[in-house]
Amino acid sequence: MCGIIGYLGGREATPILMESLKRLEYRGYDSAGVAVLELPRAGEAVRTSITKSEAKVDTLIEKLEANMPSGRLGIGHTRWATHGKPTYINAHPHTDCKGKIFVVHNGIIENFAELKAELEAEGHEFPSETDTEVVPHLIEKYYKGDFLAAVRAALKRMKGAYALAMFSSDDPELLVGARLNAPLVVGLGEKENYIASDITAIIPYTKRVLVLGEGEVAAVTPLGAEVSSLDGVTVKPKIVHVDWDVTQAQKNGFAHFMLKEIHETPEALANAMRGRLTDDGLVSFREFDVPHEQLRNLNEVILLGMGTSLHAAMIGEYLLEDWVGLPARAVDASEFRYRRPTFADNALGVVITQSGETADTLVALQQAKSRGALTVAVTNVIASSAARDADGAIYLHAGPEIGVASTKTFNSHIVSLCLLAMRLATANDRISLERRHELVEAMRALPEHVKGILARDKEILGLANKYSKYRNFMYAGRGIGYPVALEGALKLKEISYIHAEGTSGGELKHGPIALLDDQFPVVAICTASATKDKMVSNVHEIVARNAPVLALVTKGDRSLDDVATDIFEMPAVEETVSAILNTVMLQLFAYHVAVKLGQDVDQPRNLAKSVTVE
Ligand code: F6R
Repeated sequence: MCGIIGYLGGREATPILMESLKRLEYRGYDSAGVAVLELPRAGEAVRTSITKSEAKVDTLIEKLEANMPSGRLGIGHTRWATHGKPTYINAHPHTDCKGKIFVVHNGIIENFAELKAELEAEGHEFPSETDTEVVPHLIEKYYKGDFLAAVRAALKRMKGAYALAMFSSDDPELLVGARLNAPLVVGLGEKENYIASDITAIIPYTKRVLVLGEGEVAAVTPLGAEVSSLDGVTVKPKIVHVDWDVTQAQKNGFAHFMLKEIHETPEALANAMRGRLTDDGLVSFREFDVPHEQLRNLNEVILLGMGTSLHAAMIGEYLLEDWVGLPARAVDASEFRYRRPTFADNALGVVITQSGETADTLVALQQAKSRGALTVAVTNVIASSAARDADGAIYLHAGPEIGVASTKTFNSHIVSLCLLAMRLATANDRISLERRHELVEAMRALPEHVKGILARDKEILGLANKYSKYRNFMYAGRGIGYPVALEGALKLKEISYIHAEGTSGGELKHGPIALLDDQFPVVAICTASATKDKMVSNVHEIVARNAPVLALVTKGDRSLDDVATDIFEMPAVEETVSAILNTVMLQLFAYHVAVKLGQDVDQPRNLAKSVTVE
C-alpha cells in the first residue's frame, strides 16, 4: 500500500525523504514522488519543486540527485495504484490549481467522483485520474488564509479512507497530517518532526512516536505537534516509545529481507514467549489481562484474519478445539464483515494481523465489538489500529517485517495462539499440569529446532532448484498440516508467480486430483500426527497419477521411502511445533524457487505489505 513520509525541521528535507521512501518500498508500490518547499533565493518568490517517477524509488532518487531541491519542509510518497494507472501524472504529490497546496494520500476517497464533479463545475482542473487529486482542490476551495481550517473543512466532506500529509507554500512552518481508516504516525524529534504511514520510515530518526487516532488532524511544526478533531477540539496525543532497532530494518548481509526475516524466526519465537510463560505452563499477557472468571465464561472463539494471518487463525482454530474444547472458527475477515454472523453470548473475537492495519480485519473487529464480543488483537505493531481498537493486545515482538511476504510473523502468530490456548485451557481446567509441562518443554525447544531447519538451507536450495522447472504445484496436508499446506502454496505463488494451490488431503479426491500428472508436483505434509497414515494413503493416490511428490516426514518414518520422489526429514516433535518447522522449510523452499526464477522476492508484483483498503 502507499507509503507516506513528511519532514519539517532544520535539516535538508530531500535526503530524508529519499531515505525514508527507500525504507517504505517494502510496502509494495508502483510509482513515487516528492514535493519540497524550496528555500527562496534572494529576490525570488517561494516555490515548491515536485519530482516524480512512474517507476521505482531508485529512479526518483536519480532524478533528485541530478537536481536536488533545497528546503526544510517536504512530503514524499510511494503509490500503490487504485484509481488510475501507475503513470507520472497519477503519481503523488498532487496539487491545487494555483500550485500552492501539496498532498500525498494513502486510502480511497469513496465519494471522489461526486466531489470532483462539484469542483469541476466550479472551474477546478484535474490533470490526473486519481481520487487523491480532489483533496488539494477541496482544500483550495475552503482556503481563506488559514490552512488548517481549510484542511478540516475539506476532510469533513470526504468519505472513505485516508492518511494524508499536506502543506501549503503559504505556511513554511506547518506540516499537516490526518487520518481516517488508514494509519498515520507523527515522529517527534529534536526541533524536527515527521509524518509517516508507518514507523519503519522514521526509526533511524526517532523512537518517540505520536499515534494519530481516527478522524484526528496533526498540526506539525519544527517544535512539536498538536492534535485535534475535525471540529478543532484539542485531543491529548498518545505518544509511544518504539523499541525497534534500525539494524532490524536493514538486510544485514542477507540477499533479501525475506531471507533475513526467515532467519530471525528463532529470536522472534523466543520474543513471543518471553515473560509470558512460567515453568508450570501458566501464561499471562500484560496487555490482555483478563480475569480467569471471564475466560471461564467464554463459550466461543472467532478468529479473524486475511491471507497468511487467516492461515494462522486456522491453526488457532484447531488448537482451541483440541486443547481447550471450545467451539472455535477461523473466518476470512473480508467475508465476515458482510455477513450477519452469529455470536455466542460470551464470545471472544481474536484478530490476527501482523500490521494491525488490514482494512478488512479492522472492520471485522468492529463488528465483533459491536456484537458484544470480548476482543483481542494479536499483532506485531505496537499501538496499531487493531491493538488500539481491541479490548486487549498480544504483541508478537517479532521486530519489523519488511519483506512483503509474511514469514517470521506467521510463526510468531502460531506461538502466540498456543499461549492463548494454554491460558484458556488453564482457566477452564482443561489441561493437566503434566500436559502443560510437556508443552512448555516443546515450546522452549522450538527456537533451537528452527535453527536446525535453517542450517539445512543448502538441502532446501537443492530441492528448490530441482522443482523450480514446474509451473504448477499442489500442497496437501491434514489437521494443522492443512493450513500449513495453504500457507506453503501462498508463499510459493506470491513470490515466484508459479500457480500453487493448497488442499486438505481428504479434499484431494473430491476434485483437485484431476489436475495431477507428471508435470504437477505435490508437496505433501506427512509429519507425525493423528492423520499421518491418511496422508500416506493420499500420497499413494497421488503417485498413482504420476505426480512427483516432495514429502515432509518425521525422522525415522520409512513409510514413504519407495513412494515419494523426494523426502525431507523433520525432527520428531510435538505436532504444533512441527507445523512451525514445516512452515519454515516451505518458506525457504518458496524463497529459493523465486530467487532461481529471478523474481523480486521482497516486493512481489501487485502486492502490498499492509492492505489498508478493502
Ligand atoms: C502473505 C501476506 C498477506 C498478509 C495479509 C494480512 O505473505 O503477507 O497475505 O498476511 O495481507 O496482513 P496482516 O497480517 O498485516 O493483517
